[in-house]
Amino acid sequence: MKKILITGGAGFIGSHVVRRFVNKYPEYHIFNLDALTYAGNLENIKDIENKSNYTFVKGDIVDEAFISELFNLHDFDGVLHLAAESHVDRSIEDPLAFVKTNIIGTVNLLNAAKNQWKNNFKGKRFYHISTDEVYGSLGAEGLFTETTPYDPNSPYSASKASSDHFVRAYGETYGLPYVLTNCSNNYGSFHFPEKLIPLFINNIINNRPLPVYGDGNYTRDWLFVEDHAIAIDLVFHKGKNHETYNIGGFNEWKNIDLVKLLCQIMDQKLGRHAGDSEKLITYVKDRPGHDLRYAIDASKINKELGWKPSVTFEEGLEKTINWYLNNEEWLQNVTSGAYKEYYQKQYS
Ligand code: NAD
Ligand code: TYD
Repeated sequence: MKKILITGGAGFIGSHVVRRFVNKYPEYHIFNLDALTYAGNLENIKDIENKSNYTFVKGDIVDEAFISELFNLHDFDGVLHLAAESHVDRSIEDPLAFVKTNIIGTVNLLNAAKNQWKNNFKGKRFYHISTDEVYGSLGAEGLFTETTPYDPNSPYSASKASSDHFVRAYGETYGLPYVLTNCSNNYGSFHFPEKLIPLFINNIINNRPLPVYGDGNYTRDWLFVEDHAIAIDLVFHKGKNHETYNIGGFNEWKNIDLVKLLCQIMDQKLGRHAGDSEKLITYVKDRPGHDLRYAIDASKINKELGWKPSVTFEEGLEKTINWYLNNEEWLQNVTSGAYKEYYQKQYS
């Protein structure tokens, strides 16, 4: 039985990846390592917690001794590394937390894998999951390709860029077999309501203002999280060693257009008058260093591995909104306590 370590599996994307791997690969034993920060929640993976091929390990990737011991104990065959501090606004408030988890945490994992595998890399693989934000900001034209130079603008994207460089360096210097993907903005179930889509769904439900940064004319490419999990599965199993793949939704939206679409759908779902939710839109102070536009050229993963998104944005958004409306208890649980303090500080 292969032993696979997935880090950050109690978070948004990680929970979808863990669920997919545990259910699809009974021949693997999946170890989910997560520190359960504010963004990690065991509720996200409750449906698989009793599966015989699954073990949850609570721990911090920054803790060198702990990570090295964990690798000694289990001798993993593969690593899918998703654990990270992931929110740009929090990185502006506390950059060091991002340096610790995203850079030092990643190097700890790389070191542990290198030391454990002792140059015998046959059948081993380290998969680093990263973001398109490492490429910086696009103007009105163009797409990020795998050869676009790194040009990160936020402490979050700088920390992810740095971790990507370390992964490559371990590949070049020690021959560590790695694959790396840079993906655009995800949306879907179990998404912590600090990011645009779940935050605004939650605020519409609660008739709270919808804080649009700046003029709202910022563009993001949106991908349904389950399609990202499918791409991750494919790259882990079929991707070429030492290669990077961009993953995107072919689905660019200006924030303000996306917010208006969300408002329209939510009005219908909640039985409100058309236009009610749009009245909640409030333009607020812009995010410092706000990247104007992200857009992905995902033709490499499409051509080489045959991946493309399986759902349209309309279908994905419908599924996502329905999930939040049917899981208000989850929303209430994650927005109690510390969330309130964060919200007050960020939006007051
Ligand atoms: P998330 O914030 O929802 O989850 C992160 C998880 O990592 C949480 O469960 C948290 O408890 C865990 N974690 C944080 N610090 C840790 C530490 N020191 N030790 C162990 N566990 C720790 O993040 P997400 O949105 O699911 O993103 C997952 C990965 O995908 C990240 O690496 C992120 O950079 C990348 N990514 C995210 C997006 C997106 O749109 N969300 C897009 C592209 C890439
Ligand atoms: P976010 O979901 O934080 O993802 P990222 O910054 O990683 O792209 O933000 C998506 C876009 O929405 C981004 O342009 C910032 C904007 N935004 C708002 O306008 N208001 C908000 O309250 C948030 C959280 C984001």
